[in-house]
Parts: sequence; structure tokens; C-alpha cells
Amino acid sequence: MADKKQQTPPVEPFINWSRIPKNWIWVSVILANLSLVPLGVVYAHRNLHWRQPRTSIIPDMDNQYRWNPQQYDPEFKDGRVMRNWVEGTVPVGMLHEDDHLYRGIEGERFATTFPDEIQIDNNLIERGENRYQIYCAVCHGEAGYGDGMIEKRASQLAISGNHRGLSWVTPLSYHSDELRARPVGHIFNTISNGIRTMPGYKSQITVEDRWAIVAYIRTLQLSQWTPVTQVDQADRERLLKQIEANRSQAPAMDSEAGSEQAGSDAEMTEGTQPEGDAPAAEGAMDTANQAEADGGNG
Ligand code: HEC
Repeated sequence: MADKKQQTPPVEPFINWSRIPKNWIWVSVILANLSLVPLGVVYAHRNLHWRQPRTSIIPDMDNQYRWNPQQYDPEFKDGRVMRNWVEGTVPVGMLHEDDHLYRGIEGERFATTFPDEIQIDNNLIERGENRYQIYCAVCHGEAGYGDGMIEKRASQLAISGNHRGLSWVTPLSYHSDELRARPVGHIFNTISNGIRTMPGYKSQITVEDRWAIVAYIRTLQLSQWTPVTQVDQADRERLLKQIEANRSQAPAMDSEAGSEQAGSDAEMTEGTQPEGDAPAAEGAMDTANQAEADGGNG
């Protein structure tokens, strides 16, 4: 027995399982499984939805107490977390003392001139055109005759009786003596605060843009009604020649409509402005009001 042992020395396996206590194997299997837990936790926190905020190992100031807009909180007397300004406070730079610039008023009256801060040039008028087409043309029409899309549609509804009891007032045309005589400050005030049935646009349109629109309305008015005194000599001669040329062509062009043509020409020279839609639109207003009254009764 002893000889045999000397001849073949036992070859030790790398791991001799039989020499490792049974308990150790189980312990290491459990430890290996446990080591996956942190990975699983990280995975879960990154990808699953949790009601609690994510675990942050270095929280810094990630999560703080705060309110959401429009939230209710009984801590305040009126429950509103969105607090109003303390009455009488004015944000820095928003005192707006300049009546001329911010309200279109000079002394006790509406200003007849633009404020000094507003520089009247092509840029201003182009800006005014741009803003006008966004905010005003829908009702007042591109050329300011009070015939925008909304006016057309509302009048249609009024006539069809399909207006659900709502009434509609036709936007005023800018091309009347009354509107041409309005001081610029008055128009500025109309845009800011509205007038009668027209709403104000103070909250949408900045002060500068409102003045730009006023300048553009003046431009529109001039484009449809230029006093001859404001046309310089060269242009006057050119226009006179054009009128002469038109006159000599007119009978040849439509001799049959001659009498009607003469009628409307005469009206134009008297100084009235053609406002084709006005009578029809007034009719529409009447029907609208009538319908409203009927609706009220029934
Ligand atoms: C929703 C339609 C609507 C829009 C948009 C609108 N208006 Fe008017 N506007 C009216 C109506 C209606 C009147 C006539 C009010 C009345 O007589 O009750 C009016 C009247 C006016 C007048 C004449 C007021 C007066 O008597 O001196 C001016 C000027 C005017 N609007 C300018 C503007 C300008 C500039 C804008 C764009 C910023 C604008 N409006 C946008 C409907 C509108």
C-alpha cells in the first residue's frame, strides 16, 4: 500500500470540489444571484414608471417643493397659487407716463400728430401693413372698406337667418369723411381699447405696432382719397393727361352704358366715395337685429 502511494503521487485537480465545504457552494451561488440585484434596480429605475421621483444618489437640488400653474392651495385665502400683483405696483420701466405715446392723448384731446418716438418712414408703414393684415383685414377688408371675410360670412349668416340669435355690426369703412377726420390719437385709442362693438387689441399688439397700423390706415385712406393739393405738379399733369386719354377712349369703349356711366361719374366728382356694400350690409344688420328681437320673444 505504501509503495503504491509513492509511485503515483496524486494529481491535485485545479478545484477539488470534494474539499470545498458544501455550504460555501450554496453561499456563493446566492451571492452571485444577489449581485444582480443592484443591476436590476438600476434598470428598473431608469426604465419603469414610478410614482416617486427617481432615486438620485447626489440629489443636489433636483427635487424641491413647488406649485404648478393654476394650482389650488388652501394656504392662500383665495386658494390661488398664482398671485396677483399687489395693487398699485408697477413693474420697472412700465409706468407709461407719456400720454401721447401710450394713450394717443395730448392734453385733454386725442393727438392729431404721431408721437416723437415714432419715426414715420417706409419701414413703419410696411410693418403697419403686415400687422393690419393679421389683425384687422379679417373684418375691415384689405383696403379698409369694411368688407373682410368675417363681415362677408357674418352678413351671409344674418341674411340666411342661420345666426343662432347673434347680431353682427358691419365694421366701419375707413373711407368716409368722418373716419378721414379722426385724429391719429383717436384711431390709436380705437386699436388699444376698442370702440362700441369692436374689441381692443392692446394685449396683442405692442404700442409701436399700434402706431404703425395707424400710419397704415392713413396710407389706405390716402390711397383711396388724395386731395389734389397733395399731388405734386408733375404727377398732376401726368394724371390730367391720363384722364384726358380715358375720356377720349370712353365713348368708343362702351357707348351703350353711356348714361349709367355718366351718372356714377357725376356722383364721384361730387365727392362721395363709392361704398357699394354699405346699403346691403345695413340691411343685413337690420335682419340680424330683427331676428335677435324675435328670438328674445320666443
Ligand atoms: C372682429 C371684427 C373687427 C376687427 C378684427 C377689427 N375691427 Fe375695427 N371695427 C369693427 C367694427 C364692428 C367697427 C364698428 C364698431 C361700431 O360702430 O359699433 C369697427 C370700427 C373701427 C374703426 C372706426 C371707429 C370710429 O368710429 O372711429 C376703426 C378706426 C377701426 N375699427 C380700426 C381697426 C383696426 C386698426 C383693427 C386692427 C387692429 C380693427 N379695427 C380690427 C370690427 C373689427
